[in-house]
Amino acid sequence: MAQSPADTLATPSPSLAKAATYAEAEREIAAVLAGEPNLIARMSTVAAMLAATFDSYFWTGFYLVDPERPDELVIGPYQGTLGCLRIAFGRGVCGAAAKSGRTQIVADVHAFPGHIACDSRSNSEIVVPVFGPDGALVGVFDIDSTAYAAFDEVDAAGLEAILGAVFGSHPGGLEPSPVLEATS
Ligand code: SME
Repeated sequence: MAQSPADTLATPSPSLAKAATYAEAEREIAAVLAGEPNLIARMSTVAAMLAATFDSYFWTGFYLVDPERPDELVIGPYQGTLGCLRIAFGRGVCGAAAKSGRTQIVADVHAFPGHIACDSRSNSEIVVPVFGPDGALVGVFDIDSTAYAAFDEVDAAGLEAILGAVFGSHPGGLEPSPVLEATS
């Protein structure tokens, strides 16, 4: 049976639905983090809330630029199975994102030269660089999936928007949440 225009409107495409889920997650994360400047608290919250939102996320977390070894990433807050502790700039997908400063979408990690297999169940991933308010690289945000080709440009846009809002703007500049204001 042909779909009426109303049916079409009532059934958004998977891409539109995913974009809307990222937009809603961004609002919820901003509400939880309002007034919280601590970077570890902010990273833990982003990883936990996004991992709980998307069933396709198998491993979700941050690798941070090590201030003592600035050409190396060290594990940060994450959700999932045991992650590798350190990744050199340029190594694997995370290292490529850190070195280039550009989001990496990898449909099949086994075909990616130098891919680091922390958990052999991961088959695809997206890694988004994270920049601070001064534009300096803070680290990368890495999401792995057990499905192949789990991530696309919609994930990249949604994640870049969230990470830009949470880490790119000065934490003190975010609107305080009404809940925190009412209780303080
Ligand atoms: N897959 C990553 C390594 C990190 S883990 O997957 C948690 C990479 O090749 O950069």
